Amino acid sequence: MKEPSPQKQPFFESSLMTMTDREFRLLRDLVYTRLGINLTAKKRSMLIGRLQKLLRTSGFKTFQDYYDHLVNAPNLTAMNELVNRVTTNYSYFYRGKSHFEFFSQRAFPEILEILRKRNSRDLRIWTAGCSTGEEPYMVAMLMKDYLGKEYGLWDGGILATDISEKALRFAQEGIYPDDRAKELPAHLKKQYFTTMVDGQIAVKDVVKREVVFRKFNLKNTTFPFKKKFQIIFCRNVMIYFDKQTREKLMQQYNAITEPGGYLFIGHSETLGRDQQYYKYIMPAVYQKV
Ligand SMILES: C[S@@+](CC[C@H](N)C(=O)[O-])C[C@H]1O[C@@H](n2cnc3c(N)ncnc32)[C@H](O)[C@@H]1O
Repeated sequence: MKEPSPQKQPFFESSLMTMTDREFRLLRDLVYTRLGINLTAKKRSMLIGRLQKLLRTSGFKTFQDYYDHLVNAPNLTAMNELVNRVTTNYSYFYRGKSHFEFFSQRAFPEILEILRKRNSRDLRIWTAGCSTGEEPYMVAMLMKDYLGKEYGLWDGGILATDISEKALRFAQEGIYPDDRAKELPAHLKKQYFTTMVDGQIAVKDVVKREVVFRKFNLKNTTFPFKKKFQIIFCRNVMIYFDKQTREKLMQQYNAITEPGGYLFIGHSETLGRDQQYYKYIMPAVYQKV
């Protein structure tokens, strides 16, 4: 029997679309300028892998055609789709356990104390790069757990932002595969989730309504917040940015953190030894003094 030609075998490696150096540079620069995400040469095959199905189904013959469409498109739909594809949205409940322990045992009680002394009830927490919502829901559960009935006496709440509309839609749905909560302490899972007939777990409304989800690009030059935050989580996000973007973000976070407030970053991230914005407290936890 005659062997089919390589072009007719879509499941083989050889069917990977080719991306020229120029096409890679164009897309890399576009992603960097718009999102701050630094696609190094090592990410080239990942980029091809994540985009080629989209190109094929949308009828683009080359990455150059796709790029031209992105920059000339009259609305942001194509750009948003690119964002959904190039961002990595991996997350799970109780990720970075020591952070949440520190939050409940020290950061949160301290912040409450500061606010009580000021006679303020305006609690403000931001999870920046919240992805599919596990992190902000985690914070809401821990706050409720800590405050119990007193929770209702506090104002403000949790702002959760991300650049990916797809991740935000998922977050707002609040329905997760059960294994996303396998690290979660059993009492929190029992209290704040319901199990659905298909085995997935759904965050209860008492938690869902405490989180406000918004689309927000951390590459934005100005942050539009009227009030400062006591705690900011930006974990496993800056890992995708270069030093310059991280540095700028640090300044912006610092400017909108209340004195005594905390910044949590990812465990594989660091602010650098010579930064003057925050005091190091423990791995990946910093305080504005
Ligand atoms: C790996 S997830 C981190 C989720 C969560 N913080 C955690 O630690 O589990 C990284 C998130 O950062 C978001 N992100 C990347 N670039 C961004 C930008 N420029 N502005 C806002 N969010 C961004 C991605 O969409 C993605 O959801």
